[in-house]
This record gives sequence, structure tokens and C-alpha cells, in this order.
Amino acid sequence: MKNRVMLCREGDIPEVSARGFDPQRQGIDTVFVVKKDGEYFAYADICPHYGDTSLPWKKDTYLDSAGENIVCAAHGALFNIRSGLCTSGPCKGDALRPIPLIQEPDGSLWITLED
Ligand code: FES
Repeated sequence: MKNRVMLCREGDIPEVSARGFDPQRQGIDTVFVVKKDGEYFAYADICPHYGDTSLPWKKDTYLDSAGENIVCAAHGALFNIRSGLCTSGPCKGDALRPIPLIQEPDGSLWITLED
């Protein structure tokens, strides 16, 4: 069964920033959304390098200081914001798992969870 969950409103994520979410109420962010050039990109918060490692070293720190890449704090892997592809680091060539994001006309952002 599928279950739609609202993450936030578009205005909750400023340009060139990211935010983590806990849509399954597990007590840990499992999905994050990046806003870049007016577009939103959502990924599972799991680094492809090692196990189920979460990317940020503290809440919502998914981007490098320049806001050009997604970064994994564990070993410094860099990921393209648009594609999720790792371009540098120990998992170069692997990719983050994209999460389909639904943007409603009212400005709300949703994902669909599988039960
Ligand atoms: S766990 Fe992400 S770079 Fe190693």
C-alpha cells in the first residue's frame, strides 16, 4: 500500500540549501531535499560508500561550503546535486538513490512511501 507524506512547503527550503526529513517517524532523517536553481532534488539519506551511513555530520548539512555538491561527511564523497552521481571520493561512479518528489500547485512537497 502506498502512503503519501507531505515533507514541507517550497518556501521552507531556501535556495542553495538542503533539509532532512523523517517521513516514517523513525527518529532519524531518512530523506533529504536540496533546492538549487529553483529546483528541488530528493534523495535517500544513505551514502552508497558504506552500509547505511547518513551523509551529514549534523542536521541538514548536506551541501559543501560552496553549495555546489552534496557531501558525505564520513569520508568526503561529493555528489552532483542534480543527478546524485558521486563525482569524487571513495564511491566515485556510484549514486545516491533518488526519491520521486511531488510538487503540488499549492507549493507543498510530498513523497510516496511504500508500506
Ligand atoms: S560513508 Fe559516505 S563517503 Fe564513506
